[in-house]
Amino acid sequence: MCSDAANALGQLGWKRYTRVMLKLAQNILINLPPELSHNAAINGLNAMGQLPGPVRPLEGKKVAFLGRELANPIGLAAGLDKDAQAVLGLAKVGFGFVEVGTVTPRPQPGNPKPRLFRLKEHSALINRMGFNNQGVDAMAGRLERVRQSGRLSSTLLGVNLGKNKDTPLECATDDYLIGMTRLYALADYFTLNLSSPNTPGLRQLQHGGALAELLGRVKEAQQRLANGRSVVPVLLKVAPDLDDEDIDSIATQLAASELEGLIATNTTLERRAVQGHVHADEAGGLSGAPLTQKSADVVRKFRAKLPANMPIVGVGGISTPDNAVAMLAAGAKVLQIYSSFIYEGPNLVQKLVTGTDNPK
Ligand SMILES: Cc1cc2nc3c(=O)[nH]c(=O)nc-3n(C[C@H](O)[C@H](O)[C@H](O)COP(=O)(O)O)c2cc1C
Repeated sequence: MCSDAANALGQLGWKRYTRVMLKLAQNILINLPPELSHNAAINGLNAMGQLPGPVRPLEGKKVAFLGRELANPIGLAAGLDKDAQAVLGLAKVGFGFVEVGTVTPRPQPGNPKPRLFRLKEHSALINRMGFNNQGVDAMAGRLERVRQSGRLSSTLLGVNLGKNKDTPLECATDDYLIGMTRLYALADYFTLNLSSPNTPGLRQLQHGGALAELLGRVKEAQQRLANGRSVVPVLLKVAPDLDDEDIDSIATQLAASELEGLIATNTTLERRAVQGHVHADEAGGLSGAPLTQKSADVVRKFRAKLPANMPIVGVGGISTPDNAVAMLAAGAKVLQIYSSFIYEGPNLVQKLVTGTDNPK
């Protein structure tokens, strides 16, 4: 009894200490140049994952998602850990689910630097990273080690797939299938990223015949790879820059193909909210606070069109419990964050978990 109490007290002290250290690290990182700070954060999170101690999500509002029960609905969006270098550290932060990638079949360097810009006054980022990543083989090696460690038991792990820049658009489906095949045994779900604005032509795949072909072949491959066992779910990630006709047509195709879910949204090309900022005219996708309303609107429109049992992951400009609750009210089943995590650090996850468990 006494030693239990001492243990609990010790844990409380440790938790508080960790929270303070994370805040301190965050304050240092946010003042470094963006990409340097990003790499330092990934290294720090990787080191945190190597330390002993439990790797589990924070307890919050439990939610059924893709056939599993998540301990909380807050996830990390794709793009932060493109190469799955810090999965255990990110899981230790307490996310209910973590999405790694975008990964492409072959390694590629991405766009020339600088390619990531902070618009602090708007709590926003502009990026034109261009899928810089080490390729599916490197990711597979890391995820094999994570799985073998047996430490990632209750955090759902998604893998976000893309195409190489030099793969012709008409062969794009092949790239998605290479990613799925190589990583099939290691992922809890896949995301087809058709919505990055930084790979020329990619967003065209969200439309018409190109989407139909992609979804059809992905579904075929999913059945084949499952080999009689239950399939690894596949989700589609869309841009926020879609008109009502686009949304109608994508929703119809998603329903017809029986894909397992939708992620809305990626970054926007629109700059209205940040006009006049010194970085406003940088090419790339804008994320963070300027997306809050736009992404929630897209989620609401898709929710009205998609079958009720097809879950939507709401992402875009979520930085407060109120934003999170509004995105859930718009029809999202679970949420993801990226930009707010950069600005506010790991302690934000606890705030959002608490805020969605006990909404005001
Ligand atoms: C620097 C950066 C890199 C990103 N890279 C990816 C990526 O590789 N794949 C992807 O699907 N989304 C990527 N995203 C988009 C995010 O996953 C997310 O959809 C978007 O930023 C909106 O969420 P937020 O407002 O919380 O940042 C990236 C975003 C940023 C800021």
